[in-house]
Amino acid sequence: MTKLLEPTERRKRRDPEVKVWDRFVRIHHWLLVIAFATIYLEYKKFPLHPYAGYLICILITTRIIWGFTSKGAARFSAFWYRPAEMLAYCRDALSGKATYYYSHNPMGAAMVYALLSTLLVTCLVGLLAYSASQQLGPFGALIPDAWEEQLIDAHRLGGHLLAILVVGHLCGVVWATWLHRENYVLAMLTGLRRIPRAIPLPAGAKHPEKKKDTTGLLSSLLRWLNFKHPFIATLLLMLLIIGGVILPTIHFLVGINKVLPAY
Ligand code: HEM
Ligand code: HEM
Repeated sequence: MTKLLEPTERRKRRDPEVKVWDRFVRIHHWLLVIAFATIYLEYKKFPLHPYAGYLICILITTRIIWGFTSKGAARFSAFWYRPAEMLAYCRDALSGKATYYYSHNPMGAAMVYALLSTLLVTCLVGLLAYSASQQLGPFGALIPDAWEEQLIDAHRLGGHLLAILVVGHLCGVVWATWLHRENYVLAMLTGLRRIPRAIPLPAGAKHPEKKKDTTGLLSSLLRWLNFKHPFIATLLLMLLIIGGVILPTIHFLVGINKVLPAY
């Protein structure tokens, strides 16, 4: 939303934590991650594949509605930039002094829009391909079999393009973490970001009035993750999420695949 040149030595500062990502965005994001990873890593598992795809259709539709109706960082207008701003951010980021943004930065925003639109198109083509090949899904037998091959080819292309975008997304998260000395992944879990005091907050958001109670093991751990070593902590957290949550969840879902009714 509002921007300011990122000062160097941010690691040493103690910027207050502000609730930036609302609950909807956070739950939405992690469901999307699991649904996508399930489809992509286990694409041969039917009917799990279309079920996870239906979930993605619902997630993308609700995110679009939320982008227009919510307030704060999740609103599309909070991260809508002109191409010139995206290029300027990229140039500054390469020289190591990019501006700080309350919501997604211009490069992150470009990636978010690319991910959301490619997910939507890939799912829609998947629905058509499912109808042509299996006469299943919401389109039933509406799509002629003759289109099957082309639809599956286009759908496969979308799926692999998404995988490339996701790799780019993860590289972007790691890069921004390094650049801004902030644990972006933790922020997607807790909703809290360290916003410099100099940045005027949008309506509805506020800096905490009094210092939070920082005693206890959990707050010490969170402080360590967020302030002391945000870069290493981001990488560790990513590994933990992938190995400790995403892969076991996929394993579980594959286990229940055989009892899922085909639709
Ligand atoms: C973003 C979500 C999705 C991704 C990333 C994805 C990805 C893929 C990939 C990588 C393949 C493998 C193609 C190959 O054989 O090489 C595939 C096949 C397929 N997908 Fe999806 N898919 C998604 C959503 C859906 C949805 C929503 C449906 C339908 C309800 C669907 C139906 C199919 C069908 C029918 C095939 C062809 C299977 C076959 O006969 O080989 N997909 N998808
Ligand atoms: C372990 C894997 C992943 C991690 C650690 C991760 C992390 C993040 C982080 C930190 C953000 C916030 C970026 C910012 O502050 O600007 C974000 C946003 C986002 N990510 Fe991921 N991501 C992962 C996988 C994925 C996948 C697989 C997808 C989609 C297929 C995805 C789609 C998105 C989208 C759409 C947003 C924007 C959130 C919104 O505004 O609703 N992410 N991700």
